[in-house]
Amino acid sequence: MFNRKFYLIVNRKSCLIVNFGPDPGSSHGGSNQKISTEMISEIIRNKIAGKFFGQHEIKFQNIIPQDSSIAQNFKELDETGLYLHIPFCNQICPYCPYNKELFHEDLARNYAAAVVREVKKYAALMAGKPISSFYIGGGTPTTMLGKGLEEILDAVFKNFNMRCSIHIESHPNHLSNENLDALKSLGVKYLSVGVEALQNRHLKLLERPYTENEVKDFVSRAAGKNFECLNIDFIFDLPGQTISEVEQAISSMIKLGINQAATYPLFRFQYTRFGKELPDKRNILSTMFRRRKFLKVIEEIFYGSRFERSSVWAFTQKGMDKYCSVTVPSYLGIGASGSSYLKNMFYVNTFNVKEYIRAMENNNSPIALSFDLSEKAQMAGWLYWRIYETKFRKSDFQRRFGQSIDKEYGTYFSLMEKIGFLQNGQDLINLTDRGAYWIHAFEDFFSIDYINKLWGTSKTNPWPEQIIL
Ligand SMILES: C[S@@+](CC[C@H](N)C(=O)[O-])C[C@H]1O[C@@H](n2cnc3c(N)ncnc32)[C@H](O)[C@@H]1O
Ligand code: SF4
Repeated sequence: MFNRKFYLIVNRKSCLIVNFGPDPGSSHGGSNQKISTEMISEIIRNKIAGKFFGQHEIKFQNIIPQDSSIAQNFKELDETGLYLHIPFCNQICPYCPYNKELFHEDLARNYAAAVVREVKKYAALMAGKPISSFYIGGGTPTTMLGKGLEEILDAVFKNFNMRCSIHIESHPNHLSNENLDALKSLGVKYLSVGVEALQNRHLKLLERPYTENEVKDFVSRAAGKNFECLNIDFIFDLPGQTISEVEQAISSMIKLGINQAATYPLFRFQYTRFGKELPDKRNILSTMFRRRKFLKVIEEIFYGSRFERSSVWAFTQKGMDKYCSVTVPSYLGIGASGSSYLKNMFYVNTFNVKEYIRAMENNNSPIALSFDLSEKAQMAGWLYWRIYETKFRKSDFQRRFGQSIDKEYGTYFSLMEKIGFLQNGQDLINLTDRGAYWIHAFEDFFSIDYINKLWGTSKTNPWPEQIIL
């Protein structure tokens, strides 16, 4: 997912929203129960946000940061990550929450020209600041292969101080020999493929345009190209899916030569077709426990095949560099819906592709909303990301904020250690499998609601006045 990413919270690979429908077994009226559950959740969320963020509401406003403040933020950073959003797909999947629309070559070419303009604008503000991670997400970035992607990459590498390789998302149907070679010659070293499911009945439900045999061929062809890391995305907890189907699918993928898998449960985003037509009839607890059961089996298969956990939902072959979204705490997001987190400011470009292009053509800012982060909010954001990666060093926090992480969060770490969620070392904090699952469930509690509001509104209104999370 994700961006992946309040990119603080809205990460490409973590920004997932769940719409837990009413419990059909409840004797209360469905909608009353939903209202009260939502109200209680909202109160809890506000309380916790107030505690961790030091702000009771997170208010995005249509205030465009001055170029001079953006430049000052870059100046104060040692390095930055880069996220490029490609908002086009050849199909619109019924479950997908991301900012995308159907691919049209003319629109894509205009989009490429607009992104090149944005790159040049930032080059002037960044003054050679090193970029240490580069992630291209979507939509489906490979829709633009041979149709503008090359021009964008050329501008990125000519105008920015790139010190990293490219991580890119792709669709199985785009993995022809020709496309794979083109990706390699563009410098792509880390490739992700949205496989999603293997058995034909699940592919059909998800409306994926390929069969089990076809997708196996695509993945094994990609594996033969020796990328530094080949990741597949896989969705579990599909309606009617059995544990043994998941075991079978993952074992097959491992045999085909993947280096990493990001495994997500199916989330029902309220504003997608599945969110409306395929609501989850289970209550929140049974959903969570069922997912935990699936994840336990997934963990067993990966651990038994020399993979290790590299984030809450991802498993990477031991010794391989992981495929991932932005890896540094601050990042610049370009393109429609690209979001940037620079030290104390977070801002989001308009989601609307035509409006984004128009803004760039007219030399206007594509930024639609911004939000200033207090020091406390920056710390909470930092911790969110590190927890997501399942291990981190306390000394990195000290270096970033000039104060001890134990002073700020020590009580929570001790509590989490007692209930078996983490190992609290002298410097290293390591989440256990149990902790990884429950902490992510807790984080989703925020992401779900926040993204629903931020993305839901931004999708329908290109220039919202404000959004309060
Ligand atoms: C941008 S897509 C991947 C690339 C490409 N567009 C494709 O579909 O093959 C990002 C990933 O998010 C995950 N995803 C999207 N919607 C989801 C949902 N409702 N629940 C769980 N995972 C989802 C899928 O695994 C998907 O591969
Ligand atoms: S192809 Fe990928 S990005 Fe596009 S709608 Fe489907 S899941 Fe979403």
